[in-house]
Amino acid sequence: MTKTADLEADIGEILLTEEAIASRVADLGRQIAADYAGRTLTLVSVLKGSLPFMADLMRQIPLPLRIDLMEVSSYGGTATESSGLVRIIKDLSASIADEDVLLVEDIIDTGLTLNYLVRYLRGKNPASLRICTLLDKPARRLVDIPVDYQGFEIPDQFVVGYGLDYGERYRNLRFVGVLRPEVYAGE
Ligand code: IMP
Repeated sequence: MTKTADLEADIGEILLTEEAIASRVADLGRQIAADYAGRTLTLVSVLKGSLPFMADLMRQIPLPLRIDLMEVSSYGGTATESSGLVRIIKDLSASIADEDVLLVEDIIDTGLTLNYLVRYLRGKNPASLRICTLLDKPARRLVDIPVDYQGFEIPDQFVVGYGLDYGERYRNLRFVGVLRPEVYAGE
């Protein structure tokens, strides 16, 4: 069985500690709760990477809210590069028409996945649609997307942990770290 210590050995640098993440998520929750006071919010999260962020963020927003989950995957590309061609594996389970929707994402890299999702969700006629991402890598952006709530801006490095994976591993790390390039060398 793989031990957490073995997973941690593949990490070159811890970028965001568990404490830094928790504190920033609490800030975001306060900001979102203030902005949506008096309204009923629907949080839409995208599996699987956003799972820990969604679970922590929703508990920092003391408003009546609904949650829904989508799962998408990109065609082609590699384990570290998204192709922008998105396939919906799991769709919303309820209508978001006339709802105030906040899309909760783990990371925006090129922005291609999010661009697709925003268009898709707009097509469902929500009353409003805003974007909240824990991590933002603006250096790699290929499409311009307005981000309403951002946890951390990070450099152009491939990161794992707190939901983010490489080849489906490392999601259970409690921090966000930079994967040693030798782990994905030869990809
Ligand atoms: P985009 O379409 O290039 O913005 O990529 C978005 C998706 O790629 C994210 O939701 C992640 O699943 C994945 N991704 C992008 N950068 C990273 C990273 O540094 N680590 C792990 N996954 C990443």
